Amino acid sequence: MIVARTVAELRAALRDRRDGAIGLVPTMGALHEGHATLLRAARQADDTVVMSIFVNPTQFNEQSDLAAYPRTEEADLALAQAAGVDVVFAPDAAEVYPPGFATTVSVTGPIAETLEGAERGRAHFDGVATVVTKLLLAALPDHAYFGAKDAQQVAVIRRLVADLGLPVSLVVCPTSRDDDGLARSSRNTRLSPDERARALAIPRALQEMTDAAAAGIVDAEALRARGTATLEASGIRPEYVALVDPETFAPVAEIAGPVLVAIAARVGATRLIDNTVIGGA
Ligand code: PAF
Repeated sequence: MIVARTVAELRAALRDRRDGAIGLVPTMGALHEGHATLLRAARQADDTVVMSIFVNPTQFNEQSDLAAYPRTEEADLALAQAAGVDVVFAPDAAEVYPPGFATTVSVTGPIAETLEGAERGRAHFDGVATVVTKLLLAALPDHAYFGAKDAQQVAVIRRLVADLGLPVSLVVCPTSRDDDGLARSSRNTRLSPDERARALAIPRALQEMTDAAAAGIVDAEALRARGTATLEASGIRPEYVALVDPETFAPVAEIAGPVLVAIAARVGATRLIDNTVIGGA
């Protein structure tokens, strides 16, 4: 396994591999089983698997969150090796944002400005869009792999890939969950045992909303109220419980087709997100 620290090293590592398919799994490190799922999907589909590790400072709206973000490169490299990754791209901040850096890729509209964009601020998805564009241009993969847990991030990246005509196919893998249903996240390690138990109200709320919709409740506000009540019963006040169009992120009033149900909530000091799609065919 090659560890490339610069774009030049990455391109040199990939130069002779372009006859086959290249898959890129972008990460911020602190790898867990959710990342392993993406790596397995890439390993199955692609001849060469590239994984990036870069804790992107521009997408953090809180300095304390950036400072607290786990950095576990040694363990990450071991996991990558075990997952059959061919090339790890692990640049430092100066390689990604050299002095004088002045370009931002900014997706506009509800996709980027509602929910996470509203809670975390405009800069969050600008940071994601800019760094993902740079990673895609650095590796020029055939496929790039993302998790469905970050549904809005996926929608933003889908938009920029289409708008900029980037030659890559996005592969979205289902949310990876622990046995008790909690969506896997690098942030879960910050939960105390009590917070972790209370956090289960998030997947429970999603399941209850799914069941209610399947039982025929089509009014989005009624479903939202049900999910919110489940969270509040566990002492969790959500930042949002939203029912939106999965592609445009426009709010929906009625379930008349696939609807993305998205939740963001702080459990203690830890901010968690999760989602599911209801009303599909
Ligand atoms: O989902 C993540 O880990 C990050 O947002 C990403 C896509 C690697 C960009 O920094």
